[in-house]
Amino acid sequence: MTALLLTGIGELTTNVAEPDDVCGTRHDAAVLVRDGVIAWVGPTRDAPEVDAPVVDVGGRAVVPGFVDSHTHLVFAGDRSVEFAARMAGSPYAAGGIRTTVAATRAAADDVLRDRLAALIAECRAQGTTTLEIKTGYGLDVATETRLARLAREATDEVTFLGAHVVAPEFAGRADDYVDLVTGDMLAAVAPFARWVDVFCEEGAFSPAQSRRVLEAGRAAGLGIRVHGNQLGPGGGVALAVAMGAAAVDHCTYLSDDDVTALAASDTVATLLPGVEFSTRQPYPDARRLLDAGVTVALASDCNPGSSFTSSMPLMIALAVREMGMTVAEAVWAATAGGARALRRDDVGVIAPGRRADLVLLDAPSRVHLAYRPGVPLVRRVWKDGVEV
Ligand code: NIG
Ligand code: FE
Repeated sequence: MTALLLTGIGELTTNVAEPDDVCGTRHDAAVLVRDGVIAWVGPTRDAPEVDAPVVDVGGRAVVPGFVDSHTHLVFAGDRSVEFAARMAGSPYAAGGIRTTVAATRAAADDVLRDRLAALIAECRAQGTTTLEIKTGYGLDVATETRLARLAREATDEVTFLGAHVVAPEFAGRADDYVDLVTGDMLAAVAPFARWVDVFCEEGAFSPAQSRRVLEAGRAAGLGIRVHGNQLGPGGGVALAVAMGAAAVDHCTYLSDDDVTALAASDTVATLLPGVEFSTRQPYPDARRLLDAGVTVALASDCNPGSSFTSSMPLMIALAVREMGMTVAEAVWAATAGGARALRRDDVGVIAPGRRADLVLLDAPSRVHLAYRPGVPLVRRVWKDGVEV
C-alpha cells in the first residue's frame, strides 16, 4: 500500500460544488491519498495520523489535475510557416491538415512515438493528468490504425477521427471516402478507440456525411463526439445534440437554437481558445453558453495547425480574459468540465474514492492561473497518487 498526505493546502479546489461555489473551495486543507485514490479530505488540523510521507505545501493552492478532453497529439512535421503566414494576414484553412497528413504517413512509428512522448511530458509538466488523443492525420487504413495504436499506448481515451478531412486520394469523392471511413477503417481502428469524432464543417464533412460516420462508430461500440461550428455557423452542434454526443467541440459560431439545444441536452460544449488565439478568429462566447445553462469544458486542441499549445493554464487565462468566464468557471471547465466531456466521474474532482490526480501550484490561489498568464505555476503533479 502506498500513501501520501498533503497538508497545509492554503486553497483546495475540490469541485464538490456548494451553493455559490462551483469549485467547492476549502482552506487550510489536507488530502490523504492511498493506493492512487483520494482516501480523505479535511482540515489540516484534523488530518489522520498515518504511516505515510507527509508533504506540507506551505499554504499553496492545489487543484485537480487538468482533464484535456481534446488533443491531436500523434503527428509528424511542423506548420510554423503556415502560422507565420497567418500572423501576416493569411486566413486559416482546414486544408492545412493535409500537410500534416503527408508528414505523418511518411514517419516511422518510433518517430511518432518519441514525438508523442515529448508532447505528453509537456502536458504533464503543465498539470494535465487525463488526456484524450485523436487520430486524424493518417486518413488511410494503415496509418489511422498506426496512430490509434500509438495513442492507445499513452491513454485509454483514444478517438477515431478518420473523418478529419477527405483524404487527398479521394479529392472530389467525399462520399466514397466516407464509405472507407465507416467500413474498413473503422473496423481496423475501433479495437483501439473509445470514441468516434468527425469534423462537421464546410470544407470537411456535411451534416449528412457526419451522421453516417457517427452512426457507424456508434454501431461499432464507440461513444460519439463532434468538431463543429468552428469556422462558421453550421449543423455540427444540432447533429451532436440530436445524436446524444458526449461533447461538441469548438462552438465558435452558434445560433440561438444551437445554444437552446445544448442547454437542454447532456452534450458538453468544449471550447478551445488556443484555436482562436492561433488563427485570429473571434473567441467563442462562453458567457452566453453558461448563462443559458450549458455545461462548458475547456481543452487545448493541441495540434500542429490550429493550436500548437498543450497548456491548460493558458486555456484558463484566455477563457477568463477573452471569453467572459470567471476564474472559478474556467478552472472547473478545465478539470470537472473535461471529465464530463469524457463522461468520466473518477477524475476532475478531489473527493474520497476519486483518482488522486493533483496539481500543486506555486501560488496561493487558483486565481493566479489567469492572473499570471504564461508563468509556469505548476510546481508538482501527482497522477494516480504518483508524482510525475
Ligand atoms: O480541431 N478542426 C479540425 N481539426 C483541427 C485542426 C487541425 C489542423 O489544422 O491540423 C482542430 O482545430
Ligand atoms: Fe480538434
